[in-house]
Amino acid sequence: MSSISGEKIKISVFGESHGKAVGVVIDGLPPGIEIDSDKIRAEMERRRPGQDRFTTPRNESDDVEIISGVFNGYTTGTPLCGIIGNTDVKSKDYDAMKNLMRPGHADYTGYIRYGGFADYRGGGHFSGRLTAPIVFAGAIAYQYLQKKGITIGTHILKIGSIDDEPLNAADIPADILNKFRGMRFPVVSPGIEEKIKEEIDNARRDLDSVGGILETAVVNVPAGLGSPMFNSVESKLSAFVFSIPAVKGIEFGSGFGFAQMRGSEANDQFTADGKTVKTATNHTGGINGGMTNGMPIVFRTVFRPTPSIGKPQRALDISKMESTELKIQGRHDPCIAVRAVPVLDAAAALVFMDLLL
Ligand SMILES: Cc1cc2nc3c(=O)[nH]c(=O)nc-3n(C[C@H](O)[C@H](O)[C@H](O)COP(=O)(O)O)c2cc1C
Repeated sequence: MSSISGEKIKISVFGESHGKAVGVVIDGLPPGIEIDSDKIRAEMERRRPGQDRFTTPRNESDDVEIISGVFNGYTTGTPLCGIIGNTDVKSKDYDAMKNLMRPGHADYTGYIRYGGFADYRGGGHFSGRLTAPIVFAGAIAYQYLQKKGITIGTHILKIGSIDDEPLNAADIPADILNKFRGMRFPVVSPGIEEKIKEEIDNARRDLDSVGGILETAVVNVPAGLGSPMFNSVESKLSAFVFSIPAVKGIEFGSGFGFAQMRGSEANDQFTADGKTVKTATNHTGGINGGMTNGMPIVFRTVFRPTPSIGKPQRALDISKMESTELKIQGRHDPCIAVRAVPVLDAAAALVFMDLLL
């Protein structure tokens, strides 16, 4: 149903939130990538729901069954299929909602697009659950990139009114990105985690949800990847990032901040120490003319507040064609941005692997 295609590696994500399973077929992987199942497990664990009050109480083990494309611990180069079972399914929660088109969600557009045949339970194919296969595919891509010395990491830049410190785009040590990968709430400023938790708790207690911004960096990327215009690094990253549900915007480097700058401030001046070319600042987020310039790639992604909230709202009853009161009883995430940290790492890994191949 839903496919995401890269150029060299093509990935196709399938499944529904309350169906038997979700999964992915990855086509075009090079043979011989060593598959470290502990690393895959660790990535899946970072996205897994049901771990604390900051994620949906739906408790899934998110074990991946690899049914093709891996032999004796290495990719074979043939299509790799990974399947993740749906076990903690409470579809009854959604029976009463069959005809109710929730505000903010994809119920109405999905109903029109698929003529009323789409599986609406738990958001069906439009559920955040479909990001589990992306994290799995990204974990494989990252194993390839790590062998090339590339490091990727994401931190929470903003949740509601709480701001973390942005990274210094001109100088991002791989260590800090590795540290983010080991943190449940990856942040730069000490002490901000508690404030973020409080912000999410407040929204949850109000039977509401809250939005947020994540900042992702990719370091040690060689210069010259990407192409001008349609296959620019920005186009490829944006296309992938916008396939993650609830993403509403992306900016590279100083992004929308460029609007208030002068050229003299915005231009990243080149320096060279004899063999390495760098720029003194990194307002463009490591990309010029759609191609990498060797500096850290930095981008920020904004996530809307979770559409499903416990607060009473108005929904459309499509069977009666009238607006009606809706009180959502099912389980949901109070803040999608927090859950999406490993999804962005995975998206970046898949795009950069595709660019490198
Ligand atoms: C990791 C993740 C978890 C999500 N959890 C929920 C959820 O619990 N409840 C919900 O209504 N939407 C959730 N979403 C968002 C919806 O899937 C999304 O808003 C919906 O498909 C509509 O798409 P759009 O927001 O891109 O327009 C989640 C998204 C992600 C990436």
